[in-house]
Amino acid sequence: MLLLGVNIDHCATLRQARYRDAGVTVGGAVEPDPVAFALAAEQAGADGVTVHLREDRRHMQERDVWRLRESIATRLNLEMACTPAMIALALKLRPDSVCLVPENRQEVTTEGGLDVVGLRPRVAETVAAMNAAGIVTSLFIDPDEPQIALSAELKAPWIELHTGAYAQAYYKANRAAEFERLRRGAERGHELGLVVNAGHGINYVNIAEVRLLPHLHELNIGHSIVSRALFTGVEEAVREMRARMKKGLRD
Ligand code: PXP
Repeated sequence: MLLLGVNIDHCATLRQARYRDAGVTVGGAVEPDPVAFALAAEQAGADGVTVHLREDRRHMQERDVWRLRESIATRLNLEMACTPAMIALALKLRPDSVCLVPENRQEVTTEGGLDVVGLRPRVAETVAAMNAAGIVTSLFIDPDEPQIALSAELKAPWIELHTGAYAQAYYKANRAAEFERLRRGAERGHELGLVVNAGHGINYVNIAEVRLLPHLHELNIGHSIVSRALFTGVEEAVREMRARMKKGLRD
């Protein structure tokens, strides 16, 4: 069964919009609480909770990830940059998995995939540190052969294929080409023995096609679920996405 990791970063984005300078990130009038969001998502059947602790701390704060580690019952997936500070934090926090992502201070959200080829020594060192600690590593990469092949060579057990370009192309002429790129990437990752996940830009519409990609283990979905939760509540938003993950275009 295809699993759902719910990315709750944008719950924290909303909190920070008002309480960035409050000095505390929980308690009193400080809302919304990402931990409460995570627990509601679990209640509705989320298989895991994903957070990105960015260097600029624009949404999730360190306190949030520790509270999540103590309170959630499913898996905690920590998205992080390949930096010594984040490696040290992951080794202390011990999330169930880490997803290595590129980080650029100017970007609104994660833009391209991690350039495993260009950053080989840094990625290799991070994967080795996580493997030694028994923390599963996933590499968030564009669905391109050199990135996939090197991910396997560096012994990262999982990859997360970046679905952002496909999502951007959804209403454009290159949608089929971007879908095919993902399909080939998923096939190649599977062939090399990698667990294949996908994420970024997946929503309640494109999920009908995304879920047809072969060999998928888990989808990480954030913005669309948090957005829908504003109207329906968290549990309904998660249940609806789960239901759509089971259906395909041909159903
Ligand atoms: N996967 C990764 C690695 C991401 O960086 C993000 C966005 O932070 C997501 C999945 C979720 O993307 P979205 O919020 O567009 O669903």
